[in-house]
Amino acid sequence: MRKKKKIYVAGNWKMNLDLKEAEQFYAVFNRHYRSHPHVKVMIAPAFTHLYRMVYLYEDTDVEIMAQNMHWAAKGAYTGEVSAAMLKSVGVETVILGHSERRQYFCETDEILQKKVQRVIEENMTAVFCVGEKWEEREAGRHFQTVADQVKKALFSLHPEDWEEIVIAYEPVWAIGTGQTATPQQADEMHRHIREVIASKYGNQLAGRIPVLYGGSVKPENAAEIFAMENVDGALVGGASLIPEKFLDIIEAAKQYFD
Ligand code: 13P
Repeated sequence: MRKKKKIYVAGNWKMNLDLKEAEQFYAVFNRHYRSHPHVKVMIAPAFTHLYRMVYLYEDTDVEIMAQNMHWAAKGAYTGEVSAAMLKSVGVETVILGHSERRQYFCETDEILQKKVQRVIEENMTAVFCVGEKWEEREAGRHFQTVADQVKKALFSLHPEDWEEIVIAYEPVWAIGTGQTATPQQADEMHRHIREVIASKYGNQLAGRIPVLYGGSVKPENAAEIFAMENVDGALVGGASLIPEKFLDIIEAAKQYFD
């Protein structure tokens, strides 16, 4: 049985909450939040709020992360945000390859490979998302799809670079639909992801890569998801916008260790 040292509870706010709402979230969250040595809490607000959120959460162990960034160091890329810009406001971690970025903003495996390289060059951390569409699962191609995503974006990394990689498995059909993958479906895909990584980097490295699950995680199902051997946490969308729900998911993570 694989032993977990840490559970990640990461909120991806996507394009939700204006600054005032984000501050109101903080006011409620901070009144009730109690840290736990084995639970890592992260929140990814919009770019516009990062500076303020880093400041607000400074006295907590909550990490503020970005939802995206550009692959280039700097230059003529109107509307984009660089790694150095993120670091300059105290952000060290970025979500990359979210299915919404792949689907609506044409992010390919090649683009994502360049973004991951930038993360490594800048000594940042990536929460790298993978996941199959419903048609791919129906056609029995889900394991292959996810393996390809992992290989194309991450197999140019050196073994030591993997220290900076967290993987999030988010089946596209489970995102924002209320239809969660069963804990068994999540666990078998997470195990598959580890096997893919192990095929190039060995079992030891593959065993310690955090693999989070995302897709309709809520207080009602968090505990059973966290209980699975290969699940190291959750990337939470909708339920991370409501402080009480997000706090309840954090509680479920704490209870795993109690
Ligand atoms: P939901 O939790 O709203 O399904 O979103 C999941 C997600 O995409 C997190 O990145």
